[in-house]
Amino acid sequence: KKVVLAYSGGLDTSVIAKWLQETYDCEVVTFTADIGQGEEVEPARAKAQALGIKEIYIDDLREEFVRDFVFPMFRANTVYEGEYLLGTSIARPLITKRMIEIANETGADAVAHGATGKGNDQVRFELGAYALKPGVKVIAPWREWDLNSREKLMAYCEDHNIPVDFSSSKKKSPYSMDANLLHISYEGGILEDPWAEAESDMWRWSVSPQEAPDSPTYLELTYENGDIVAIDGERLSPATVLEKLNKIGGANGIGRLDIVENRYVGMKSRGCYETPGGTIMLKAHRAIESITLDREVAHLKDSLMPKYAEIIYNGYWWSPERKMLQTAIDESQVYVNGDVRVKLYKGSVEVVGRRSSNSLFDEKIATFEDDAGAYNQKDAEGFIKLNALRMRIAAGKGRKSL
Ligand code: ARG
Ligand code: SIN
Repeated sequence: KKVVLAYSGGLDTSVIAKWLQETYDCEVVTFTADIGQGEEVEPARAKAQALGIKEIYIDDLREEFVRDFVFPMFRANTVYEGEYLLGTSIARPLITKRMIEIANETGADAVAHGATGKGNDQVRFELGAYALKPGVKVIAPWREWDLNSREKLMAYCEDHNIPVDFSSSKKKSPYSMDANLLHISYEGGILEDPWAEAESDMWRWSVSPQEAPDSPTYLELTYENGDIVAIDGERLSPATVLEKLNKIGGANGIGRLDIVENRYVGMKSRGCYETPGGTIMLKAHRAIESITLDREVAHLKDSLMPKYAEIIYNGYWWSPERKMLQTAIDESQVYVNGDVRVKLYKGSVEVVGRRSSNSLFDEKIATFEDDAGAYNQKDAEGFIKLNALRMRIAAGKGRKSL
């Protein structure tokens, strides 16, 4: 019996690594991914070894994360409940995919994760695992054991010689945090009171807008098929694009969010997020689409977006409906090429210019000046009359519109 554990190297998953071996008398394979959380992943190797782990996987998944998950999601301008840019939600399908690949490579029949029984993450991991490996056994220790407090976890560490410095730097924070190249999230602690404002030193990726520079920063973003491929004329890989936007956005106080959201399991939860690069990307992508997309395509895309967001939030990335929507979204992006100029200033992202060789914007038609016959204003009369026909008929038959 063998189980692949998604292992962060932190205290919780270190306890899980030990607990799995003890409880299930199984071999544990650990898997640690660098998805841009900003912490070294290599130390996880020595920690896993100290826990008696023989098969240790450490992977740099940053490029794959942005190229195959973040960028495809941003092609749809995806936002959950009007606010959340899905930073945690979009990382889970990739971790699950790699976890299942490792299970197949090592002949493991089970996977385990450190998500609690109250949250979204358990659902995302497990729906993905079942979709990719239908016979897999899933172990979620938080739903099984009784180590449901810090003290009990610490006592377990002491009994099993797990060094407490295994608690990563994250754990010194009073919040439950999750970070990757797209965002960093904070939940729990004082945030459990939705009326309490987050402490200013909670935020790790951005300065507060008040403390941001007094002069604006301009950026030129180049798009190909809906993805950013260059910043200020310099071609960059997907992960590098996001890294750079995070840095510049954070320095300008961009991308802070404080919300109460609906978890899939049914409860409301308060979370704070920093998504500087994502906030810039969302705004700029809408701008490049504004000149390159057909109106009906754009509106249809917008109407599908909340459903697509919900699919990702609820953990259905590896579902047929997500794949179906993705095909349509990707198809819509063939002409989404060109440049967007944005101005970043004290927490705001302003689009100040857009251009494209695939632009549908026609100055000759749109002008307020003489259009030299490009557009016949008389055509509008019949257009309006026919559109009004059903209302005129109804009104003529005595129906009230007021
Ligand atoms: N509420 C957010 C979501 O469901 C963030 C979850 C953060 N996860 C964590 N393990 N701290 O996407
Ligand atoms: C967790 O419960 O493990 C984190 C929060 C979430 O998954 O929503």
